[in-house]
Amino acid sequence: MDQRATALLRQHRWNPGDILGAGMEGTVIELSRDEVAKVWHGRNPTDLHALLSFGSALEQSPIPFRCSRVIAIVEDGDLAVTIEQRVPGRSLRPDALPNAPLVTGDEIRLMGDALAGLSQATAVDLNALPILPAEKPFSHTSSFGVSLADLAERRFERRPELLRKEIGDIDALVTELLCRLRDLPESDSKCLIHGDLIPANVLIEDGEVGGVVDFGFLTTVGDPQFDAAIAASSFDMYGPNARQSEQALSAAFSARFGHDAEVYSLYRAAYAVITNAYFAIDGQDGHFLWCAEMLKREDVREAIVSPPDS
Ligand SMILES: Nc1ncnc2c1ncn2[C@@H]1O[C@H](COP(=O)(O)OP(=O)(O)O)[C@@H](O)[C@H]1O
Ligand SMILES: [Mg+2]
Repeated sequence: MDQRATALLRQHRWNPGDILGAGMEGTVIELSRDEVAKVWHGRNPTDLHALLSFGSALEQSPIPFRCSRVIAIVEDGDLAVTIEQRVPGRSLRPDALPNAPLVTGDEIRLMGDALAGLSQATAVDLNALPILPAEKPFSHTSSFGVSLADLAERRFERRPELLRKEIGDIDALVTELLCRLRDLPESDSKCLIHGDLIPANVLIEDGEVGGVVDFGFLTTVGDPQFDAAIAASSFDMYGPNARQSEQALSAAFSARFGHDAEVYSLYRAAYAVITNAYFAIDGQDGHFLWCAEMLKREDVREAIVSPPDS
């Protein structure tokens, strides 16, 4: 365990215990029955301060399970540790499970329950977080589709070369996608979007959703169809059953929430344009190749090129 983080926590009168989990961005340590500490790997302390106002907004929201809301931040130079509300239970699936099996009926129900619970939170101040590190939060005054299109445009302009190598018509495709997103009607059921609702971030206790952790990657207030579309696609990103699991989750979410399959495709394309270069140092990065594949998919391209009423 990180000695500096342990010493810092003790200095602040916490009693660090076992490691509860670790992901791409941090290691989470048990502090008490109700609190955990997340030791961040690559984020600047100032980036994390918005998590405090987001945490207060979460506390006021009627979500029917616990969320890993930040209660305090302790820091020492470049080391930042957030103190968060503990969420009971274990991850629905571990992060990056190799050879992941097909999603089960129970898992579909639980992912749907997680989405349904988050959709109870509708306060506008839940959009306090930068949409991605070094970005601003989405504006209160633009529609979700416009904000998403603006973000996709910025991210593509910043680093188009990886996608250009992989997809010949990417510039035209992105232009069309931006139009489609900007034309989307504003959802009348806007709510909290987690943004990274993978099964490792959904904790299960006694067969029910105990809570959701790890807000801050595309977390905002917007169209719930975005969270559902990305949750279905990222449930299993690399396994042999990935597409089948995506289809089963998408069908269940559409039936349960009345969502539109074509809008799912537009949001998946937006996600791919926004995040493809997030982790990549070259064109061999797994996440990049997954995003490129998404933008080559026939169902995704059809939703982009065919105008909504044709
Ligand atoms: N508030 C919490 N309460 C209980 N367990 C947690 C909490 N936050 C995270 N964990 C556990 O630690 C793991 C990694 O934390 P997470 O915040 O998802 O890190 P990363 O951003 O690196 O993915 C989670 O998958 C979960 O198992
Ligand atoms: Mg995580």
